[in-house]
Amino acid sequence: MRTLAILTALIGAVSAAPSLIPRVSSPFSIAKPGGIDDIIITANNTLNGTYHSPTTTVSKKAAIQARTAQPGHLPIQIVNNFSGGQVNAYISGLDTDNRVVFVRGDGSLVYPSSGGSSVPVPISSAINIPLPAKGNSITVTLPIVLSSARIYFSEGNLQFFMVKIPNGDGLVQPSPTNLQDPSAGINWGFVELTYTTGLALYANISYVDFVGMILSMSLSVTDGSGTQITRGLGASAVSQVCQGLVQQGSQDGYPWSSMCVANSAGTPIRALSPGDYSAINSAAFQNYWSAYVDQVWSHYTSTPLTINTQTSAGNVNCQVSGSTLNCQGDNRGYAKPTAGDIWGCNSGPFAIQAGDNSIHSAVVPRLCAAFVRSTLLIAGGNVQPGVSQSQYYTVNPTNHYSRLVHQFEVDGRGYAFPYDDVNPDGSENASGTLASGAPNVLTVYVGAPPS
Ligand SMILES: *[C@@H]1O[C@H](CO)[C@@H](O)[C@H](O)[C@H]1NC(C)=O
Ligand SMILES: *[C@@H]1O[C@H](CO)[C@@H](O)[C@H](O)[C@H]1NC(C)=O
Ligand SMILES: *[C@@H]1O[C@H](CO)[C@@H](O)[C@H](O)[C@H]1NC(C)=O
Ligand SMILES: *[C@@H]1O[C@H](CO)[C@@H](O)[C@H](O)[C@H]1NC(C)=O
Ligand SMILES: *[C@@H]1O[C@H](CO)[C@@H](O)[C@H](O)[C@H]1NC(C)=O
Repeated sequence: MRTLAILTALIGAVSAAPSLIPRVSSPFSIAKPGGIDDIIITANNTLNGTYHSPTTTVSKKAAIQARTAQPGHLPIQIVNNFSGGQVNAYISGLDTDNRVVFVRGDGSLVYPSSGGSSVPVPISSAINIPLPAKGNSITVTLPIVLSSARIYFSEGNLQFFMVKIPNGDGLVQPSPTNLQDPSAGINWGFVELTYTTGLALYANISYVDFVGMILSMSLSVTDGSGTQITRGLGASAVSQVCQGLVQQGSQDGYPWSSMCVANSAGTPIRALSPGDYSAINSAAFQNYWSAYVDQVWSHYTSTPLTINTQTSAGNVNCQVSGSTLNCQGDNRGYAKPTAGDIWGCNSGPFAIQAGDNSIHSAVVPRLCAAFVRSTLLIAGGNVQPGVSQSQYYTVNPTNHYSRLVHQFEVDGRGYAFPYDDVNPDGSENASGTLASGAPNVLTVYVGAPPS
């Protein structure tokens, strides 16, 4: 709290007399956008496609429609509700031949090529879709089906690159975790979608990796099942989550505020999840969960932990023996998780392997969710999932990023960690997914959710 007060005073002083005040070190991580040499290629920022041509090609709408091999026709309405600068949209994905493709505002397609370069090359064709001014909307119609698609939104221009990969051509996308990424200083975000060859649509917003540009979605359908909507976070969520992280850090001394990435002016533009933040600083939270994990292991050595599998297997009893938590009917036990295992829910004891049985596959999400929400040692925590949502994140240590994301969600929708859909029977589902076999129009709201 004290840090916050000093910070507030300093921010006030800086804005009053910027040149007279010595530089204050920011509580945030600062983006220092670099060039091509600063790009870091990982599985997280690449979309790998097939190699199609040594040069970038453009397909006009008429030519696409004349081809019957690639069906698809999905209107996407984009509503600009952003109170900042010019916003661009970018629609990327893989076509049915697994080629990387961008859809432009007029429905034409750009197939970018690396030209065989193993050094990323910028996509120089216009792939941005400039949004009209706030309060207005445009509609872009997908002329083909797309898998692994994203609609990116950014205040200003995002930079995309192509790179030759062993068996094809890969799209290098902006990385939220590389502070030197060429797009690091830009406010951006995306929705993910898959528009299948059966013309079904799956679209989601997720905060599992980060909170950036504020996006909401709705989907109208043609089968009478009703419009679906995910409002997600409110317009000021990035600064609210970052304020909450600063406050948390002043309470427990951990660098939660460093999960916020600020631009060169010091304004936070995104909040990274702890798992993503570990790509920037893997040491900071390395031992954050250790004492809690030890307590849980010690507690459930003498007491059984009941996991409600919410499947036909019903409740299973688990107990620690030696260093391993074993569950009845489960094909293998669980070692103590590390902080990284708890943030990501997919490594160490939480990695599900081929051959794991259905009880194991049911225990992993429920056990990891119980850690993330710190419900294992509170009253009623011996049954998982069990306690109500008001009991999540109430004791330390916990995933304070997740706590804050949920605090600022308008309708409780949008995952803050990979197994956010684990909940007691009958309670609300945090999934930010919209899905329909009969999609009519997908609407994306940029900058602020619809009321
Ligand atoms: C794409 O290919 C690059 C280069 O081989 C690799 O580093 C990256 O992990 C791949 N991405 C995915 C999502 O598999
Ligand atoms: C979001 O949708 C994409 C595309 O369908 C999918 O790959 C991804 O796993 C989904 N993520 C979540 C958190 O539901
Ligand atoms: C990809 O992101 C996840 C968090 O979503 C992180 O745990 C993992 O280390 C990242 N992988 C790479 C290669 O950066
Ligand atoms: C939550 O909703 C999503 C999308 O509708 C669905 O895939 C998922 O199975 C649901 N989870 C639960 C626990 O009901
Ligand atoms: C724009 O955002 C405000 C604040 O969330 C909301 O009340 C309004 O309905 C939004 N407008 C549109 C067109 O979605």
